[in-house]
Amino acid sequence: MSINYQDRIPNNVDLGSNRTLQRALEHWQPEFLNWWQELGPKDFQIADVYLRTATSVDAKGWATYGYVKMPEYRWGIFLADRNPERKIGFGDNFGQEVWQQIPGEHRSTLRRLIVTQGDTEPASVEQQRMLGHTAPSLYDLRNLFQVNVEEGRHLWAMVYLLHAYFGRDGREDAEELLERHSGDADKPRILGTFNEPIRDWLSFFMFTYFTDRDGKFQLKSLAESSFDPLARTCSFMLTEEAHHMFVGDTGISRVIKRTLEVMKELNTDDPVAIRAAGAIDLPTVQRYLNFWFSSSLDLFGSESSSNAASYFANGLKGRPDEGRYEDHVALETFYTVDVPDGNGSTKTEQIPMRNAMNDVTRGSYVKDCEMGVTRWNRLIEKAGHSFRLALPSTRFRRNIGMWTSVPTDPSGKPIPQEEYNAQIASWLPSEADQAYILSLMHGVYEAGKMAAWIAPPDRGINNNPVQYEYVRLH
Ligand SMILES: [Fe+2]
Ligand SMILES: [Fe+2]
Repeated sequence: MSINYQDRIPNNVDLGSNRTLQRALEHWQPEFLNWWQELGPKDFQIADVYLRTATSVDAKGWATYGYVKMPEYRWGIFLADRNPERKIGFGDNFGQEVWQQIPGEHRSTLRRLIVTQGDTEPASVEQQRMLGHTAPSLYDLRNLFQVNVEEGRHLWAMVYLLHAYFGRDGREDAEELLERHSGDADKPRILGTFNEPIRDWLSFFMFTYFTDRDGKFQLKSLAESSFDPLARTCSFMLTEEAHHMFVGDTGISRVIKRTLEVMKELNTDDPVAIRAAGAIDLPTVQRYLNFWFSSSLDLFGSESSSNAASYFANGLKGRPDEGRYEDHVALETFYTVDVPDGNGSTKTEQIPMRNAMNDVTRGSYVKDCEMGVTRWNRLIEKAGHSFRLALPSTRFRRNIGMWTSVPTDPSGKPIPQEEYNAQIASWLPSEADQAYILSLMHGVYEAGKMAAWIAPPDRGINNNPVQYEYVRLH
């Protein structure tokens, strides 16, 4: 289905025939644009950026490329096509018709789920707003802005649902999505990770690899929802999300590639020597990975959750790729979790499967994260080094769930608090690490040039060469 660009708000939901909704969204649009100017990418609003814009929602050819000034990006409302055959895929109402309207009893819960998802979208734009000043190349600068405009569109996607299905409450929620701000002392964003500042590009790549991937799994769970408009909205968002994770995956690969080149040139793996040559030593990459992976794990919630059980029972939020499971009701099965025994060791517990849905989703996420780590390690192995990157245990440095504040080492082994305190600086980016990484951050704005701490990408965007002028600065 193609998208109508004639309207003030591009859409494929026939907005023109719904005057009330159209008025609500046209009222919100200038507030969004104000927010974008104030808290979107700083100082690049008049640059011409080689951006991809969605023009249709089918698998092929939904994107067109061209130079756009970001404030003129055509944000709009795009839902994946409706499948008239679609049935509820899990929970107590398995096999029944999906809902085109929200059943009254699920209204407040769905509203909360949509607001929580919606809040992360502008939050990440706010977190990343200063990064344009220190982009390692025009190619990277363009990728940053592509991610930013699409997160802006994801906000539109959630605001559409709020306006279209939740009346006045939804309109108020939509305004508040522009009033909370990342890291704000009084009105922070809802979820912790989205209040962490992103001051450097290594953190940006970690964020797009690990935290956008949390987004992927949340969207996959919501794409299973019995509330069909939510499912269709999230399905289309997933196509955009894939590029964000590509940016993270290839960004980290390129950092490692450059480090390996320096290690070869100098014939050393000494972090001091590698840093003196302006590259990022692999143990530092590991510490940033530890930080962002553990922080992102918390976004899935507690291992055992009665909320997760009721979302599943009621068909509001499913498991990612629900079709791959055999039992879609999950009423009589159990799930085994490792929990701290309170004496510095672990024990296993059985919890009802429905209560374990957060951990089921987290498990799929961890597997997905592993794939990049394997690829990065292959680069290191091929270069002849024994160092290996690894995901820390899901027990490590948790702030939500059964392992909250339980001191463990990165392998997940419980250790005494004193030992944890003494070691944590070697497991997470220290102040010195952060200062070093920040010292590398300088904007490189000459087409085809790369900062010294990162290798060029294997290929450019949309079959253009790497040295293409992806952003025209004025
Ligand atoms: Fe997003
Ligand atoms: Fe994203």
